[in-house]
Amino acid sequence: MMSKLFLFVVFINCGHCANILGLYFHAGKSHHILGEMLLKELATRGHNVTMASPFPLKEPFPNYTDIHLTGILEDQLARESMFMKMNKGHALVGVNDVLELTRAQTELTLNHTEMGKLLKSGTKFDVIIIDWFMNGAILLYGTLFNAPIIPIASHGTTHLANSIVGNPSPPSYIPNTMLPFPSNMTFFQRMVNGLVTIAYNVMGHSNAQYHQALLEKYFKNVPSLDELKNNVALVLSNGHYSFESARPFVPNIIPVGGFHVQKAQKLPQDLQEYMDEAKHGVVYFSLGSNMKSVLLPKEKQQEILKAFAKIPHKVLWKWEDDKLENKPDNVMIRKWFPQNDILGHPNLKLFITHGGLLSTIEALHHGVPVLGIPIFGDQKANIPNAVSSGYAIQLELADLDETTLGKALDEILNNGKYHENAKKRSQLLHDRPMSPMDTAVFWVEHVIRHKGAPHLRNLGNYLPWYQYLMLDVALFLVTIVTIVGFVFTKICCFICRKKKEKKE
Ligand SMILES: *[C@@H]1O[C@H](CO)[C@@H](O)[C@H](O)[C@H]1NC(C)=O
Ligand SMILES: *[C@@H]1O[C@H](CO)[C@@H](O)[C@H](O)[C@H]1NC(C)=O
Ligand SMILES: *[C@@H]1O[C@H](CO)[C@@H](O)[C@H](O)[C@H]1NC(C)=O
Repeated sequence: MMSKLFLFVVFINCGHCANILGLYFHAGKSHHILGEMLLKELATRGHNVTMASPFPLKEPFPNYTDIHLTGILEDQLARESMFMKMNKGHALVGVNDVLELTRAQTELTLNHTEMGKLLKSGTKFDVIIIDWFMNGAILLYGTLFNAPIIPIASHGTTHLANSIVGNPSPPSYIPNTMLPFPSNMTFFQRMVNGLVTIAYNVMGHSNAQYHQALLEKYFKNVPSLDELKNNVALVLSNGHYSFESARPFVPNIIPVGGFHVQKAQKLPQDLQEYMDEAKHGVVYFSLGSNMKSVLLPKEKQQEILKAFAKIPHKVLWKWEDDKLENKPDNVMIRKWFPQNDILGHPNLKLFITHGGLLSTIEALHHGVPVLGIPIFGDQKANIPNAVSSGYAIQLELADLDETTLGKALDEILNNGKYHENAKKRSQLLHDRPMSPMDTAVFWVEHVIRHKGAPHLRNLGNYLPWYQYLMLDVALFLVTIVTIVGFVFTKICCFICRKKKEKKE
């Protein structure tokens, strides 16, 4: 009886069970988490999911088949030092390293024997979900499998997400993700924002040419990257107005920020007791999965420990080594912590983070104040956003020492406003008509039901840029007005001259 009921429920939930391919070409753990979460949810709802990625599941999951893309993770680990390099420069430093990384990983995917096998197997897919991270060539799989593509934009509603579906993003009030500017920019900031926007467009164009060449290296008769854009049905953006400034959305870009965060679970027993018994509360410190704490310069590590030794709180530090010299008694190190469950513990007072988007969203989900030490990329904009929402303090890595960290800890742990603002902002993240995960699943199934959902696409994505900006019309009108003005003046002059001649 129960199993019949269960089957019935599954049947209701999944009127059209589909074959879904996940294609995660990049070894960024935070990107992968988003894809894995969504695909697991789709599998739970009865779809047959296949995930090609550098991170196969450790334990099997029903209706979820892994294809291990070997070589990609190894390639990324060899490039780890780039993250510190990017910390030192402005918005354009390190972009080249990232482009090289994504090109190499795209190529490893295109030439992967497992991908070749999958193509040969003749398996049909109803939709392909991909990581969207400067990997234009991957769009070819939409053509090869004859399936619509849904890119997940793990950085939120940025130029990467906007450009693929033609979502308007005026540089007059939407700062580039790599710039730490507020929406209300000064004249100078708007100028920089405009120039960086142009620079990114130029770089995007040259990267597209590179990806076109990659395709031609591995496949015959490939369409142009512009034509491959047609394979994109819609973009799921890891964004939301609770942490992004208010902005336009065309119908085929859907903000689902927060969908990866799960309800906090009970911690493993030792950690649960450790946190339960923390009289003054707990501070959690993690620099994320790419930028490891052990990559910090030695003297910074010691300065941080000195500042920690002075607070009465317990500290959990994600530290990727067995030993940490001069570790005070109130600091516990582990190579890995169940971050979400720690953030959800009522005794957690503060999250010290690099400001990666997933970590920032998790802090917001649980209403936890943030001390941000942005290292690179969008982190340098995520933290200022949190600061302007009133629940964060920002510290630069270069300025980080016992004094600055001590001061910041004192302010954020003892001034109640950070906690209050974190709670207020958290309510915005939760106050929506449908949970972000249900929203994401709805739109994936919408694309499946409507065979790529062509009705959602806006023509603005396919017009040449001068038509989009109406420059051709403006030029035409200016020309007409100029000609009419010119002729009119000429005629006036002519009449004047005639009158003068008559008088004389
Ligand atoms: C599920 O996907 C796998 C590929 O991972 C495929 O071999 C299998 O045939 C699919 N099952 C169904 C019922 O379509
Ligand atoms: C999903 O998994 C369940 C149990 O593992 C199985 O009974 C069902 O047929 C699977 N569905 C598909 C679409 O493969
Ligand atoms: C693609 O990978 C194969 C090994 O799987 C290798 O022999 C071949 O050289 C690669 N192709 C190119 C063009 O690098």
